[in-house]
Amino acid sequence: MAEAQRNEVPEDVGSDDCLTSYTHIYAPDLLKNQVAFITGGGSGIGLRIAEIFMRHGCDTVIASRNLDKLKEAAKALSAVSGRRCLPMCIDVRQPDTIVAAVEDTLKEFGRIDILINNAAGNFLCPASSLSFNAFKTVLEIDTMGTFNTSKVVYEKWFKEHGGNIVNISATLAYRGQALQVHAGSAKAANDAMTKHLAVEWGPNGVRVNAVAPGPISGTEGFRRLGGSSVEALASFHSIPLQRAGNKTEMAHCTLFLASRASSYMTGAILVADGGAWLTSPNDFSTLLGYWSSEKKRDK
Ligand code: HXC
Ligand code: NAP
Repeated sequence: MAEAQRNEVPEDVGSDDCLTSYTHIYAPDLLKNQVAFITGGGSGIGLRIAEIFMRHGCDTVIASRNLDKLKEAAKALSAVSGRRCLPMCIDVRQPDTIVAAVEDTLKEFGRIDILINNAAGNFLCPASSLSFNAFKTVLEIDTMGTFNTSKVVYEKWFKEHGGNIVNISATLAYRGQALQVHAGSAKAANDAMTKHLAVEWGPNGVRVNAVAPGPISGTEGFRRLGGSSVEALASFHSIPLQRAGNKTEMAHCTLFLASRASSYMTGAILVADGGAWLTSPNDFSTLLGYWSSEKKRDK
């Protein structure tokens, strides 16, 4: 990697731990005293978004299914940032759980300024092997989950007070990524939703934008799509920037869209993938071979 490029890459750690050091590139008080509700904030990209937001003065709620994991993450996040982080148990497929968590958030913090729709589920699977329920499950988590959470937060707070929504998307549908009909369809629907809600809720002071990450190292998403074998082979040569992205880079893009730095942006999808979708291989038979060998190994 060229030196100029290397100097641009922010700190990250590969595990679900907080950063051991951090250099601000935005004003440290950019989100001072704001409150962010982050689905899937207990791991991966969502966890780093919570950390970076808290390092910019924000309090957070991290919400997903596994409360033990969330509690541990919340403790670590508060320790590194000095801000409050509340863990809350929700399943984005069940609106009642979201309503309860949003009501608790408003009781505890008195406001919500930012919603990050980050929760998702994914795995590699060719369409012909995907069960009806598998396709439905991913659509329910990624697409219905994003709608459910957005609607609850809008009705309970954003409608009267405005706010910022950032949806975490993906580039899978741009070229019909092999073995990804479920997640690609779900994220394409979310990109449409980003624009529809931007149009309908703009007059209420709500901006709705999305970040579309490429392959991000140290994440469950990357591992599930065969990332570690790609990393081991150091075969990032097909990506224009010649590397995977990191979680802090995704958090910085999300911070931009969630903050006043992007005050005139709504309905936008910010692709943050090192140019990967333009040039990366999308060969059905190669991926099918990889998928079959993984399945054999798992047996
Ligand atoms: C084929 C699978 C499967 C797999 C599950 N199913 N895993 N089918 N291949 N690997 C099928 C099941 O057989 C079942 O169908 C249906 O999917 C529902 O499975 P459950 O296990 O009952 O669902 P649930 O407990 O709700 O779990 C949801 C999940 C799970 C998505 C299946 O993996 C999960 O909770 N994931 C969350 C973490 C995650 O995926 N992180 C990565 C996000 S990254 P049948 O017919 O048998 O009932 C991401 C990256 C995007 O989104 C792009 C990267 C470039
Ligand atoms: P991750 O760590 O597995 O994050 C997904 C989170 O969603 C988990 O914390 C999980 O927590 C939560 N979740 C799953 N199902 C849920 C449900 N039904 N209700 C509530 N929460 C639920 O994976 P990641 O790789 O960081 O992915 C984060 C986001 O980035 C996703 O939107 C993904 O599509 C996107 N993305 C990732 C990559 C990548 O390379 N990693 C690339 C493109 C896009 P619980 O298990 O506790 O519920």
